[in-house]
Amino acid sequence: MPSAQPVGQPVPADGRLPEQALAGLGERPLGIYVHVPFCRVRCGYCDFNTYTVPELGGHGATVDTYADAALAELRLAREVLAGGREVLAAGSAGRHSGAGKAPQVSTVFFGGGTPTMLPPLDLVKVLDGIREQFGLDHGAEVTTEANPDTITPEVAERLAAGGFTRVSLGMQSAVPHVLATLERTHDPANVRSAVEAVRAAGLQVSLDLIYGTPGESLENWRTSLEAVLELEPDHVSAYALVVEDGTKLAAQVRRGTVQMPDDDDEADKYELAERVLGGAGYGWYEISNWSRAAEGRCRHNESYWRGADWWGVGPGAHSHVGGVRWWNVKHPAPYAERLASGVSPGAGREVLTAEQQHDEEVLLGIRLAEGLDLGLVEGPGRLAVAGLVADGLLDGRAAVRGRAVLTVRGRLLADTVVHRLLSG
Ligand SMILES: C[S@@+](CC[C@H](N)C(=O)[O-])C[C@H]1O[C@@H](n2cnc3c(N)ncnc32)[C@H](O)[C@@H]1O
Ligand code: SF4
Repeated sequence: MPSAQPVGQPVPADGRLPEQALAGLGERPLGIYVHVPFCRVRCGYCDFNTYTVPELGGHGATVDTYADAALAELRLAREVLAGGREVLAAGSAGRHSGAGKAPQVSTVFFGGGTPTMLPPLDLVKVLDGIREQFGLDHGAEVTTEANPDTITPEVAERLAAGGFTRVSLGMQSAVPHVLATLERTHDPANVRSAVEAVRAAGLQVSLDLIYGTPGESLENWRTSLEAVLELEPDHVSAYALVVEDGTKLAAQVRRGTVQMPDDDDEADKYELAERVLGGAGYGWYEISNWSRAAEGRCRHNESYWRGADWWGVGPGAHSHVGGVRWWNVKHPAPYAERLASGVSPGAGREVLTAEQQHDEEVLLGIRLAEGLDLGLVEGPGRLAVAGLVADGLLDGRAAVRGRAVLTVRGRLLADTVVHRLLSG
């Protein structure tokens, strides 16, 4: 069951943003996230905003009608963001010559749910909509997530022909009993054939892993990491399994039918990931992300950590433009109904204060291997830096150069580091 949404302030029916949010638009990279809220079955651990076909009962944005609803939101997005260009052009002596033109898009990410529940031609149709409304930068990064059992050579070729550049596959584990506990529908052989199809189509490959599944030993985790190395992806994400409220996994843990591993197990597995991936030439560039070369990084996700602008299309999608954050109605039925009657699907929004923006910059920036400019940390937080270095959580040499960079231990305790940087 997807989790509840925040409340926030109401979003105007036309989706208009406050003028201050549009200042500087186009000077920062703009990304588009497209949320495709459909899965064949729901995995027991997942609380993402996603629905199976029977759950939807044919109402609202379904697999068949999703692309048209997304295109309607893209038209609205262009109007809202192009409004900003008009304001800017009028108010800044034509700094932007293209009044009424929305800024170009540098990254696109189709996430889910399972975007590849849609036929590839529908995904390409939505991408074409982005091109038409905004324009795509030369060399734009265009990713789709996919379950390994939804990728065939034909699907991969159609995505590549339509302009996609990367596919991120939810591999999760290479160990059958772990995949069974996670209730995954794929097996390790599906992952290999999906990787081969994606690579043969000329697309970059990323693999998602989960560690800390009940019953997973350290040796099982090593098996998964070694299987990843054999597949030679461009990029790897590894996430500790989170027990989300309201999921089947949470009920199993509460009843005691499954037991979650302890924090030491999680730390051992993270450290093993760093050793195995790092030893094979995959450098970490964010706490949960490793890539073989700088070109292998996910630029779209990097832009989230750097506080760039992005518009999230689709039911429940979140957006952020110039310090305003908003989120769409979650269910595909009201989402499609609102767009069909020309109303923004925005359910609520927050205008971040300067202090909230600063705290967010610290919270997100510290996650990156390049670290955080210590100039952003003041007062008691600045005084805490020496203690964080002494505790082995921040890199001492980087601190001397004026940057807060997490050590491996610091990456495991990033929340503590943020707390001490913000409050001393
Ligand atoms: C939208 S899914 C990826 C695409 C596709 N639906 C799949 O599962 O293969 C995004 C990723 O989130 C991660 N994820 C989802 N729920 C999680 C949880 N409770 N704990 C840790 N990772 C989770 C999984 O690694 C998953 O690959
Ligand atoms: S397939 Fe992916 S999005 Fe769907 S329920 Fe499983 S983890 Fe969640």
